[in-house]
Amino acid sequence: MRIVVARVDDFPPGERRIVTHGRRSIGVFRVGDRFFAVNNHCPHLGGPLCEGRTQAWVRSSRPGEYVVDGERTLIACPWHGWEYDLATGQSFAGPGVPPARTYSAAVDSGDGESPHGEPVRMGPGGRRPGTYVAET
Ligand code: FES
Repeated sequence: MRIVVARVDDFPPGERRIVTHGRRSIGVFRVGDRFFAVNNHCPHLGGPLCEGRTQAWVRSSRPGEYVVDGERTLIACPWHGWEYDLATGQSFAGPGVPPARTYSAAVDSGDGESPHGEPVRMGPGGRRPGTYVAET
């Protein structure tokens, strides 16, 4: 399954989009130049996980000192605050807690495949063909 979410230019860093495909709701997040996709269903009690706040991973070796790890981002479920790694879905609520489901997210040049999997041929001047073709 492949879902086109938005043009990169229309999806600034720090934003998210929640898309629906069939019965699935998936949150797509842009953190810097990286994209993440997470199932919008919290493994705890099914809360809308992707509506929660995100924050960078913060590590501390001793009181008063901390380091913000810009490579890792957490999302907290808005219902009870359970946190998950955006990239892996790993939970940090305790042993035995299942991870949130994640999906691969990538930037496509737009000249590979259509959302339905067919190859897309570029038209004259690099224009992308539309859905409809006039009868000639
Ligand atoms: S439903 Fe998400 S933390 Fe409880």
